[in-house]
Amino acid sequence: MVHDLSKRVALVTGASRGLGAAIARRLAAAGARVAVNYFAGREGAERVVEDIRRGGGEAEAFQADVRDEREVARLVDEVQARFGPIEVLVLNATGPQPHVTIDELTWQHCLDQLEFFVKSPVLLARAVVPGMKERRAGRIIQIGSEVFEQGVPAFSNYVSAKGAQLGLTRSWAVELGPHGITVNLVAPGWVPVERHLSEGASQAAMEGYAAGNPLRRLGTPDEIGDAVVFLASDAARFITGQKLSVNGGRTLA
Ligand SMILES: NC(=O)c1ccc[n+]([C@@H]2O[C@H](COP(=O)([O-])OP(=O)(O)OC[C@H]3O[C@@H](n4cnc5c(N)ncnc54)[C@H](OP(=O)(O)O)[C@@H]3O)[C@@H](O)[C@H]2O)c1
Repeated sequence: MVHDLSKRVALVTGASRGLGAAIARRLAAAGARVAVNYFAGREGAERVVEDIRRGGGEAEAFQADVRDEREVARLVDEVQARFGPIEVLVLNATGPQPHVTIDELTWQHCLDQLEFFVKSPVLLARAVVPGMKERRAGRIIQIGSEVFEQGVPAFSNYVSAKGAQLGLTRSWAVELGPHGITVNLVAPGWVPVERHLSEGASQAAMEGYAAGNPLRRLGTPDEIGDAVVFLASDAARFITGQKLSVNGGRTLA
């Protein structure tokens, strides 16, 4: 264990699979008590919880739609009743990410992404920040994306929402810094997860992407989890408002 998060309470949204599941496992391996939020994937969330418990860690699964204000309030109440005040909030959940050209782009396509990357972070932060302010401590970690640095054709619905998420991060960092709360964003590169494989991502596409990275490979979900653990740890106590690109050096800003 490089960083010690012993007994810290962490909530990870969308942790039943993909990057969220890896983030939950890495936080638990560092000693955190982890609330594993899921939407429809109960079995996946329970598998994550079992893995964590088998490794000697503490975790529990909590169902909630993080786009819904009442469900977010219930989620936060349930997590805090089970584990105590949330000290680390990881905003990770995502829905489908359709590729849409500008000719077909509608406001609804944009709203669908903003629900996950603006509305949900706002709902969760509003529910958790008052307690963090009282304790004068807290970590908010957003999972953004490298796409905002790059721009991606036929993906402006997703890319613009990811940009907005970075805007929230920077503004909240300035606003909440005086209260002892840090707010940062981890920007992964393409890390193939179950979703990509079921959507038919080809080996050639993965190899092509990896060839364009200075480190010449794809990242792993655990490497995203490790960056989150770092930002949640005492080692990152003087870091706020930052975007940490975890993408093998693909973007340099
Ligand atoms: N993987 C990558 O290459 C990559 C790259 C850059 C950035 N990212 C970012 O990393 C984050 C995770 O992406 P991922 O690829 O790991 O996604 P994923 O594998 O598709 O997982 C999405 C997670 O979000 C949950 N979710 C969906 N709708 C929800 C809702 N309404 N309320 C609560 N949870 C909900 C899902 O839960 P259920 O299964 O329970 O429905 C699932 O656990 C996202 O913010 C994404 O933009 C990913």
